[in-house]
Amino acid sequence: MAERKIKLNGHPVRADYQSTGTGTEEQSEPLLYWLRDTLGVRGPKFGCGIAQCGACTVLVDGAITRSCVRQVHAVADQAEVRTLDGLQGRGNRPHPLQRAFVALQAGQCGFCLNGMVMGALGWLEARLAAGNRAVPSEDEVEQFLSGASATGPQNYLCRCGTHTRIVAAIRSAAEDLVR
Ligand code: FES
Ligand code: FES
Repeated sequence: MAERKIKLNGHPVRADYQSTGTGTEEQSEPLLYWLRDTLGVRGPKFGCGIAQCGACTVLVDGAITRSCVRQVHAVADQAEVRTLDGLQGRGNRPHPLQRAFVALQAGQCGFCLNGMVMGALGWLEARLAAGNRAVPSEDEVEQFLSGASATGPQNYLCRCGTHTRIVAAIRSAAEDLVR
């Protein structure tokens, strides 16, 4: 057994995980399994398991991360991991992304929404951190979601076909975030 201490949604978490090999040969379970099965964090979803759909997206030290292919040992000790489960806005209100997705009914089955929300969060926060306070255009959001933007290639798939509403929700949330 190996061990990682991380900050998960603002709370310190210490847990054991299975690891085999050492050095460049080290192998461990995917971060997604560790979060869901060991820690009971169910925001990130298992979709494709091969970094293609985005359903498992989390933020690791702010970086958009496909937790189905990131092994636990490859997450730095003391890293800050954020998942949909811990998302909230100011004053314990739902986050602007959550409010916009609900207001615009940007989902049907909801399976993709963890990835849509967490990916968009990482993308919008990176834009803000870079001093870009412009609300992204429809084209920019579409490029982000399709993996064609500079932050890609990390596309986000919605099998229910609600991409139009998802784009609108992300732009609406961005308006809120830049205020
Ligand atoms: S489950 Fe990770 S990208 Fe699809
Ligand atoms: S709402 Fe069903 S996959 Fe997107």
